[in-house]
Amino acid sequence: MRGLALVGFMGAGKSTVGRALSARLGRPFLDTDDVLTARFGPPAVQIGQEGEAAFRAREAALVDELVARAGGEVLATGGGLVVDPLVRARLRTAYDLVALDAPLEVLAERVGAGDDRPLWDADVAARFATRRSAYGDADLVLPTAERDVDAVVEAIVAWWTPGDDDAAPG
Ligand code: S3P
Repeated sequence: MRGLALVGFMGAGKSTVGRALSARLGRPFLDTDDVLTARFGPPAVQIGQEGEAAFRAREAALVDELVARAGGEVLATGGGLVVDPLVRARLRTAYDLVALDAPLEVLAERVGAGDDRPLWDADVAARFATRRSAYGDADLVLPTAERDVDAVVEAIVAWWTPGDDDAAPG
């Protein structure tokens, strides 16, 4: 069964919207950061201790797992998960992709001063600019700056027509 994956930069609201959307649609919810935290520890610690490449490899392996299972869930992805075009292509074999979009200043307000995002660093503006094309490649790019969580959920529900199981697991 095809699922729906939320993508976008740190602070976009992927986890918050994902939880509300899963309740609204009656679909299970999964957060890739939570799955990887349960297995390997918090992403911030993984990235800090083992490097970003190790974390990306784990994200890619998790996408392979999820696609093979094709559970039809609502998925919140870590902000960098769809940056690699191959991982993005793989993800969309089983998920429709919705990008939650907002200007960097809005994201900065949402993220606050938390220290659990090592890649929200001095290079954040450049990283945001570099990733725009990856997020822009989603099936729906939804501006969220002027919408609260309920409005974002309703906009996605209005847009999404769950397709037949045309995923190609394996
Ligand atoms: C990352 C975003 C984080 C987490 C990790 C790397 C990124 O998730 O996966 O720290 O590269 O943008 P959120 O998007 O939920 O903050």
